[in-house]
Amino acid sequence: VIVPQSGIFAVGTSAHCFLEFTCHDGISAAELVHALADLEAPHTTVGGTNLVIGVRPSRWEQLRPDAMPAGVHDFDDPIVGIEGFSMPATQCDGWVWVAGAARDGVFDVSKAVIAAMAPVAGVTTEATGWAYQHSRDLIDFEDGTENPSLSEAPEIVLVPAGQPGEGSSVLLFQQWSHDAAAWTALSDEQQEKVVGRTKDGSIELDDATQAPDSHVSRTVIENDEGVELDIFRRNVPYGTVTDYGTMFIGFSFEPERMTRMLRRMAGTEGGVRDALTRYTTPLTGAYYVIPEVGSLAAFATPEDDS
Ligand code: HEM
Repeated sequence: VIVPQSGIFAVGTSAHCFLEFTCHDGISAAELVHALADLEAPHTTVGGTNLVIGVRPSRWEQLRPDAMPAGVHDFDDPIVGIEGFSMPATQCDGWVWVAGAARDGVFDVSKAVIAAMAPVAGVTTEATGWAYQHSRDLIDFEDGTENPSLSEAPEIVLVPAGQPGEGSSVLLFQQWSHDAAAWTALSDEQQEKVVGRTKDGSIELDDATQAPDSHVSRTVIENDEGVELDIFRRNVPYGTVTDYGTMFIGFSFEPERMTRMLRRMAGTEGGVRDALTRYTTPLTGAYYVIPEVGSLAAFATPEDDS
């Protein structure tokens, strides 16, 4: 049975920890994926904690070339845009997202994850995420309005049946730091022009008001037949009062969609830079394969061996 990693769709959690791992010298892809596959969320009956696990595309390819989602690759090169703007490439080997209802549970599980990974890999980046005003990001706009519903999301997120990597997904992971002073110096109306939606009600601006450099204008993409190409976003606010931003968490079975959005935001495609990039700066950027549960579990320590 093909089982996707369910945490991708587990919306509504308010406590998050994001960890990226880099392997120690000499650690093989098999050793890395074995350690990732052995991580297990505790089975609690109240307030469960989810794990979502990702593997560097080139490492997964070494082990399962037959189960690679089409078009996926490491985030090896920065996306160089116009006006000196660029998005860094900071690919790591493994990615773990711990999410739950309470900060203490997420903290404990994250510590256990780091300890379990320690023989093969160390933590390269860490971020603590939390829910702000239910579903707002820290520019104080609702995030996720145009997301597909949970019933539509699987067909956007998961590699379709019969294709290599069936039931797996590809994640784009970027940490964006906000320039709070510059953002809050704008009026509500100016902020709405940057995003392309209203602050209250998250209503899309009409064609006359929608600017070509708004975030909405840059991230709505279509195929050759004019059909909109969606992704599934699970963005999470992170940080402290003086240093905060957005963890961009995007899933699609077709990673080119996300690469195109990044190129359009940077102005590499279309020649217009997303106005949001004047107020938020990407600090990291990586792609991860999110393997289907069975294909990951195949690398875990067999239960009767322990
Ligand atoms: C600081 C980083 C970011 C912030 C704060 C942010 C925030 C937002 C907000 C407030 C919206 C409008 C509400 C909604 O439909 O969800 C939105 C829409 C969207 N964003 Fe972002 N975003 C960020 C980065 C990105 C990146 C890196 C991508 C793509 C790789 C992206 C793709 C999209 C897409 C596809 C939409 C929906 C457009 C539509 O169909 O109307 N965003 N974002």
